[in-house]
Amino acid sequence: MNFLVLNFLLISANAFNILVYSPSFAGSHTNFMARIADTLTDAGHNVTFLVPVVDEARRSQLGVKSTKDVVIVEQDEEMQNHVQPIDDDMEQYWKTEVDSSNVDTAFSVFTSAMNHSCHNFLRNRKIFEKMKSRNFDVGIFEPLSVCGLGFMHAIGIRKIIIASSCVFYDSTTDVLGEPLDLSYVPGQMGRFEDPGRMNLLEKVENHKMSMNLKNVNIEVFERETQIYKKHLGDSIPDWKQLMISSSLHFTNSIPYVDFPRTVSPKTIPIGGISVDILKIKSQKLSQDWDEVLNRREKNMLISFGSLIRSQDMPKEWRTGLLTAIKSLPNVTFIWKYENDDITWANGVSNIHFTKWVPQTSLLNDPRLTAFMTHGGLGSSNELSHLGKPALMVPVFADQHRNANMLARHGGVIVIQKKDLGDEKKIKSAMKSILFNENFKKNSEKLADLLRNQPLKPKEQVLRYVEFVANYGPFPGMNIAEMGFVERNLLDIHFIIMLPYVISIVLVMLGLKIVVSLVKIKVVKVE
Ligand SMILES: *[C@@H]1O[C@H](CO)[C@@H](O)[C@H](O)[C@H]1NC(C)=O
Ligand SMILES: *[C@@H]1O[C@H](CO)[C@@H](O)[C@H](O)[C@H]1NC(C)=O
Ligand SMILES: *[C@@H]1O[C@H](CO)[C@@H](O)[C@H](O)[C@H]1NC(C)=O
Repeated sequence: MNFLVLNFLLISANAFNILVYSPSFAGSHTNFMARIADTLTDAGHNVTFLVPVVDEARRSQLGVKSTKDVVIVEQDEEMQNHVQPIDDDMEQYWKTEVDSSNVDTAFSVFTSAMNHSCHNFLRNRKIFEKMKSRNFDVGIFEPLSVCGLGFMHAIGIRKIIIASSCVFYDSTTDVLGEPLDLSYVPGQMGRFEDPGRMNLLEKVENHKMSMNLKNVNIEVFERETQIYKKHLGDSIPDWKQLMISSSLHFTNSIPYVDFPRTVSPKTIPIGGISVDILKIKSQKLSQDWDEVLNRREKNMLISFGSLIRSQDMPKEWRTGLLTAIKSLPNVTFIWKYENDDITWANGVSNIHFTKWVPQTSLLNDPRLTAFMTHGGLGSSNELSHLGKPALMVPVFADQHRNANMLARHGGVIVIQKKDLGDEKKIKSAMKSILFNENFKKNSEKLADLLRNQPLKPKEQVLRYVEFVANYGPFPGMNIAEMGFVERNLLDIHFIIMLPYVISIVLVMLGLKIVVSLVKIKVVKVE
């Protein structure tokens, strides 16, 4: 607290103009960017939150509170004629298992909308002129799209910060020269329980998935480079050059929680910035919620987030879950469910259905015993900061990784979504997580650690953005660009091995000659 007040006084005389570029297509991404924007606004900076509308349904969920200068780039008629609503396509992720064999097309609903949005954004000359006139000192963008990156260059911003709302993107780490350590770290969408002990086949899949996912991103980036060059000028460098010359790289990773990996000096983990502990602690639940929580001794919250809908869950899985719930009558289950038709749950009295949940307030309440979650990174970070045990049921994208990441700390049980139909398995997992005190102890221990970490994400964002505004970019921190052979010292290993190889070959040759001489002699004797 003191720090923020002090800092406000220090920098109010020197406010920077900062552009945060955040296309609206998914709540967790927008929310992360919004927290960065608000953190800077709260410290007295002049922040513009620029939002190309990728998905109309997410236009009103921008997540910014104190940042008032929100510039929305509406969809023009041409875009409206072509783009599909993202929600129409989300049901598929319940049944599909995304792996290396289908990841190239698994996210086409997003990449296609991004493409239309990029065209739409860059044909809007009014926005271009408006943004150019503001003389931004720093631009912040998320590397799922480079449309905004080319744009920032075109309006003269040379101090760029990359901000990943995921723990990292395989494509970005590569460009920054970070080795992905895929032999023991799961890629962004890697799905192995104990990555330190992946078997050979699992390592192959981890590697293939990472490569293929990287290629999905790169394909988008290449296309967008063409789009921004077409609209804004051929002289703008291509995405790779721009990304390499970024000043810093914020990631939504918490080093005390995440799988450890090798990072570039530009990478600053700010995971947990979306969890505002002070605010959560100050919020009170309404009387209605009080009543719900007081009904039974134990309570479990079930939510699959805002992108994946519970109502789309395959019926057999829903039935499995329902049967398990019915067998635990002393527990109230608060289930975020989007549809009014709940006749399928008739006769089960210990469920409280709700279309919206005050998730953080519930997680913060001592009466809530446990959480069942899809494991989006937003929810995962809330969970770890608020210290609740959880059943994590990853549905798609990075959710497997998030679940396994938290399970390492002993407060979480991971359930495969296809097992939701297995009521025995679900019941047994629910019983463990609700009644076994070890899960509670471990999750509270992690939360305590996180609350006391020496550098708070908000302070990091503020200090580093100001530092970039004053001194960035930092080409001296760029990791050398090298090919695979050079980077991995294969040439050097070869040279070191050469004398041994030569000696072995010589010895073999010698032996062969001796053997053949002996043979000749034997033949002659005969
Ligand atoms: C902050 O941004 C607003 C909107 O662009 C602008 O009118 C104002 O002059 C800016 N303030 C400073 C100090 O640059
Ligand atoms: C990208 O969008 C443009 C314009 O909206 C469209 O003409 C083009 O076919 C799209 N390309 C892909 C690969 O979706
Ligand atoms: C529920 O709680 C009551 C009262 O504590 C107890 O008698 C009963 O056995 C419990 N039921 C189950 C299924 O645990």
